[in-house]
Amino acid sequence: MNVTTSERSIEAQSRAKRLKALTSTVHEGVDRSIMSASSFATIDRYKRFLAIQYLFHRDVAALYAESRLQAAFPDLVHRCRLPLVIADMEDLGVATPDAGSPIFIAGGPVDMGTALGWLYVAEGSNMGAAVLRKEAHKLGLTDDVGARHLAPALEGPAPHWRAFTAALDAVELSDDEETRAREGALEAFAQVQAHVDARLD
Ligand code: HEM
Repeated sequence: MNVTTSERSIEAQSRAKRLKALTSTVHEGVDRSIMSASSFATIDRYKRFLAIQYLFHRDVAALYAESRLQAAFPDLVHRCRLPLVIADMEDLGVATPDAGSPIFIAGGPVDMGTALGWLYVAEGSNMGAAVLRKEAHKLGLTDDVGARHLAPALEGPAPHWRAFTAALDAVELSDDEETRAREGALEAFAQVQAHVDARLD
């Protein structure tokens, strides 16, 4: 069989690294949309960004309360950032955006593969938060007022991410579930992009 070195090396990578490679183009699209809308230029623009964060973290919040996922990620319940996003909105007087049902509903059925793809995107967005936090602080926001959801974990963003990716890589999935994890990560980015497209210009 004629397998190239790069194909072989991607296959040999961890699940987290494979998801990163798979989503790099869509991630760039989201980054570009958020930054080109000058989301950190004024408090008003930041408020629109907060509404997007609210909608995405609301989409995934039910996953953090799901028992099989909590067994796979022991600190999962503490990782949910929706309460911090809501506190930031309250700090800045941002009204709750009108929205339909979130993607995942508390107590609803959850496919493990799909859930891992979505969680990868939600947790990975913490890595970019380090960049966005600096921009938010230039607007006078802090880890205690208005930009709580961008604050790093106590142990630091890199160890926090490494703990997540180690648990993500350790979950055993069937081939079909693995496929759904990839689809889930792409769907999650598409959902963020849809929230961005609907609210930023
Ligand atoms: C809500 C929107 C966003 C989502 C869902 C998101 C998602 C992600 C994900 C999943 C990762 C982890 C990549 C990995 O596997 O290592 C990541 C990392 C990162 N993101 Fe984002 N991101 C978002 C917005 C942004 C924005 C606006 C920027 C800044 C321009 C940004 C900059 C970064 C950076 C610098 C990293 C770290 C890359 C690295 O260490 O290799 N992100 N983001």
